[in-house]
Amino acid sequence: MSFVFDSSKPIAIGCDHAGFEYKSALIPWLQGKGFEVKDLGTHSPDSVDYPDFAHPVASGVENGEFAFGILMCGTANGVAMTANKHPKIRAALCWQNDVAAVTRQHNNANIICIPARFVSLVLAQQMIEIFMNTDFEGGRHATRIGKIDC
Ligand code: RB5
Repeated sequence: MSFVFDSSKPIAIGCDHAGFEYKSALIPWLQGKGFEVKDLGTHSPDSVDYPDFAHPVASGVENGEFAFGILMCGTANGVAMTANKHPKIRAALCWQNDVAAVTRQHNNANIICIPARFVSLVLAQQMIEIFMNTDFEGGRHATRIGKIDC
């Protein structure tokens, strides 16, 4: 297994209140593995609006500031919908390990969206590890990605 993104750049992470607890656990877990992590909030369990945190993560991944992004909300639908408004973002809603692997292989996803209210923290960690260690296959999948934009 090897880190497939640009290791000179930090990993961006953001969430709403539903993902705050997991974010608080994932940041030290990633740092313990030697990764630099940029925490773009939220910074408390108080109720917030997920686009306010998904847009900064997506913008930073889009402009090349971050290696890749991790977004969380209750279902991960809100953060994924928001992030995917950014033209260079392919944000993937992941709920099992195989989905995290295949969205890298086939979609070259650059943000993993985790439904914090519906997966365990251990599964979230497994999916992130798989996501950042799985490479894009290119070929016919590159052709398909090229057809995503409107
Ligand atoms: C917050 O209650 C919830 O709506 C949000 O975390 C997310 O699931 C939206 O898609």
